[in-house]
Amino acid sequence: MPITKQTIAIIGAGGSMGSAIAKHVAGGNYRLLLFDQDYSKLPKLTEEIDQEYPNTDVKAMDCAHGCGWEADIIIMAVPHDQEQEIAEKIKDVATQKTVVSIANPVDENSDELTTKPDTSAAEKLQQWLPHSNVVKAFNTTFAADFDQPVIDGQKFDSFIAGNDEQALETVTEMVETVGFNPIKIDNLVFSRTLERMQFLLMKIIRRNDYQWLAGWKILRS
Ligand SMILES: NC(=O)c1ccc[n+]([C@@H]2O[C@H](COP(=O)([O-])OP(=O)(O)OC[C@H]3O[C@@H](n4cnc5c(N)ncnc54)[C@H](OP(=O)(O)O)[C@@H]3O)[C@@H](O)[C@H]2O)c1
Repeated sequence: MPITKQTIAIIGAGGSMGSAIAKHVAGGNYRLLLFDQDYSKLPKLTEEIDQEYPNTDVKAMDCAHGCGWEADIIIMAVPHDQEQEIAEKIKDVATQKTVVSIANPVDENSDELTTKPDTSAAEKLQQWLPHSNVVKAFNTTFAADFDQPVIDGQKFDSFIAGNDEQALETVTEMVETVGFNPIKIDNLVFSRTLERMQFLLMKIIRRNDYQWLAGWKILRS
């Protein structure tokens, strides 16, 4: 664990995933900066985190660029179709930083993937932020899983794919803080598989009428 406190910026913090990540990393050794295009969602969230973790420094921000500038780690908790525009805004302040791609690039009704088979949302984000270390994480867990990261004594697996070892380590610590079982994968190209895995899980859940408290687990001896 790093001795110095790292600052996490969550862009889209007012949404399902952004708020779930914020509430569950708040118990770790982090400072939190929350940004959303709808600022009105943020005061309630910061208040909840303040009450649960009075020692955690959490701040609502009104600008993506400022949020990215102050951060060590930037989490993009927005739909994939918003990421290019945000990347443009934060590009100059995201250099050499860890940027987390959580997106599952699906259409409005979650019927189809919107990326071609030879790429992924994470790889596109890496192209838009060429000087950042993009890591794919948190896309294979649903927002509901954060409140209950253990089912029948088994932690949800949480897959983390990236090219930079230090960035993978940084994200692994966040995943452990949340309470999932981290599984590191040494190449961002596997984000293609991870995004398709979650698209498949969405289809399975709908087909079988499962609840959204669901995820992946590798069983091993
Ligand atoms: N939900 C899940 O269980 C789940 C699981 C794994 C991965 N993901 C991925 O996580 C990402 C977020 O999904 P979600 O379900 O949390 O969506 P969501 O509930 O709609 O949250 C997205 C948040 O981002 C805000 N936002 C949209 N465009 C923005 C912009 N340009 N700048 C700043 N904020 C912006 C939205 O504001 P408005 O409401 O005003 O649009 C909303 O508050 C998606 O990429 C999704 O594929 C979701």
